[in-house]
Amino acid sequence: MKVVITGGNGQLAHDLKKEVPGEFEVLPLSHQELDITFRDDLLKKLSQIKPDVIINTAAFHKTDLCEEEVEKTFKVNVEGVKNLVDYCGGENCILIHVSTDYVFDGGKIETKEPYNEEDIPNPLNVYGISKLSSEFIVRNYLEKFYIVRIASVFGKAGASGKGGNFVYTILNKAKNGELLKVVNDIWMSPTYTKDAARGIWTLLTEDHPSGIYHMTNAGYCTWYEFAKKIVELSPYNAEIIPVDHTTFPTKAKRPLWSPLTTLSEIRLRSWEEAIEEFVKDI
Ligand SMILES: NC(=O)c1ccc[n+]([C@@H]2O[C@H](COP(=O)([O-])OP(=O)(O)OC[C@H]3O[C@@H](n4cnc5c(N)ncnc54)[C@H](OP(=O)(O)O)[C@@H]3O)[C@@H](O)[C@H]2O)c1
Repeated sequence: MKVVITGGNGQLAHDLKKEVPGEFEVLPLSHQELDITFRDDLLKKLSQIKPDVIINTAAFHKTDLCEEEVEKTFKVNVEGVKNLVDYCGGENCILIHVSTDYVFDGGKIETKEPYNEEDIPNPLNVYGISKLSSEFIVRNYLEKFYIVRIASVFGKAGASGKGGNFVYTILNKAKNGELLKVVNDIWMSPTYTKDAARGIWTLLTEDHPSGIYHMTNAGYCTWYEFAKKIVELSPYNAEIIPVDHTTFPTKAKRPLWSPLTTLSEIRLRSWEEAIEEFVKDI
């Protein structure tokens, strides 16, 4: 099976390439090689390659910048996805589309239950609205598709779209002896790209039914708890001060509660195990 990965130089794409099972031929296409917003070029290139599967990791996901650059956000995250959907629909190609916990509004903070795939989304920011729109396009136009929601992603490559990731930021600050102030009233489920990549490949190797799949590491924590764990696992001694989210005002509204869980059989290990392996490996 031939698999094209869009956003081929990105953080998740990096581990999708590393974790690929033997039966797949992978063609990662970088932003430069395939811009998903260039419809004619995209349709031409894909018709030449004739992939059986496309994994779309490409996105504009600087959440605060998305509030200012609404047109660009929708161009990449919605129109770009519609271009891929149009190709896939015409060619019987499976689309795996990566989405986000930011499709939820955080209302489940009342019960402190993580969101599963059957919960109703209600995004709070432009980025979340664009990703939810793309989910609807994928679900409504394609028969064979997977929407994979991940969150608070960390991987060796670091997100090119975000200039690194939270883990690297904390480690760098700890190394430089900087005082760390980290938010302790926003809960989320971290996602190690290595684990999400394995989960994504499992969708194909086990031929799971089309649908939405939550693929974060199991469990949840606040950003402060996550930072504390990262520093504990590191050789550095750094003081971390818990603060609430109002300490760092942001352009985009974010859900205060967005832990994810899954109703599917594909379950990733706990975030604690994942971060332990990650920090050891880097
Ligand atoms: N990172 C997170 O915390 C997080 C959380 C939840 C969900 N997600 C979702 O997970 C997916 C992968 O994230 P990631 O962490 O791997 O991000 P990443 O490292 O920034 O990868 C995204 C890639 O998409 C490329 N790209 C941007 N615009 C494009 C376009 N118009 N056409 C083709 N490629 C384009 C980027 O290239 P350039 O950098 O060269 O523009 C980048 O290589 C995204 O769909 C994101 O929405 C991420």
